[in-house]
Amino acid sequence: MRPHVIVNCAMTADGKIAGKARKQIRISSAEDLERVRKLRTECEAILVGVNTIIADDPHLTVKGLSREVCPTRIVLDSFGRTPDNAKVLDARARTIIVTNVVCKRTWQGAEVLRLGEGRVDLHELMRELEARNVQRLLVEGGGETIWSFFKAGLVDEYRVFVGSKVLGGRTAPSPVDGEGFDDEGCVRLQLIGTEALGDGVLLSYEVVRDATPS
Ligand SMILES: NC(=O)c1ccc[n+]([C@@H]2O[C@H](COP(=O)([O-])OP(=O)(O)OC[C@H]3O[C@@H](n4cnc5c(N)ncnc54)[C@H](OP(=O)(O)O)[C@@H]3O)[C@@H](O)[C@H]2O)c1
Repeated sequence: MRPHVIVNCAMTADGKIAGKARKQIRISSAEDLERVRKLRTECEAILVGVNTIIADDPHLTVKGLSREVCPTRIVLDSFGRTPDNAKVLDARARTIIVTNVVCKRTWQGAEVLRLGEGRVDLHELMRELEARNVQRLLVEGGGETIWSFFKAGLVDEYRVFVGSKVLGGRTAPSPVDGEGFDDEGCVRLQLIGTEALGDGVLLSYEVVRDATPS
């Protein structure tokens, strides 16, 4: 079975996951950060797109967990743009950088998978992760990456923390960017939970499978 895919992100009350400068801003409350920490421990792998690596330089690790038990960090990076000094390449957890078949780049500190001819082929990636016994994959962003997972019909759960801030900016990224669906093609969600966490609210949804585009 392919991994169960959970999308998790934090947005402002006006639906932005970062400001117009596309740099990380603090949206989550302390309670939400603790929830994400716990969620990461329940997943075998955490995935982001390369723009998130370049903009935010996250570690994508879990404090207190050793390399052996930390979820594997996965970066979608078709053309090999991950900087050599990115924190995701440190020794605190295993890392897989997924490029396309044309890219020849390698990184010290990461395994490289080459899947797809243009952008990374997500269905091939799912088969690869299934073979490696990844049962739960946490997709943390950004908007282009989350869009691709929805577009491919691969999202099972969508969890979004809504923080009490307004950022504005017509070019600021949102949880799901990409080219967007038309009305008939949109993904239907079922609300399965709401929870106040500090000064924000966590919304949890399951994807309604029959209405998801394939
Ligand atoms: N608030 C939050 O929870 C949160 C979480 C994460 C990120 N962010 C924010 O999100 C922003 C970055 O998001 P983003 O949408 O610009 O980029 P992104 O999703 O981080 O990365 C997208 C890039 O990944 C590469 N990629 C390779 N294969 C792909 C595939 N199959 N589908 C999609 N992308 C693929 C593409 O670059 P190539 O074509 O070069 O391969 C693509 O441009 C930053 O501002 C960051 O701060 C916020």
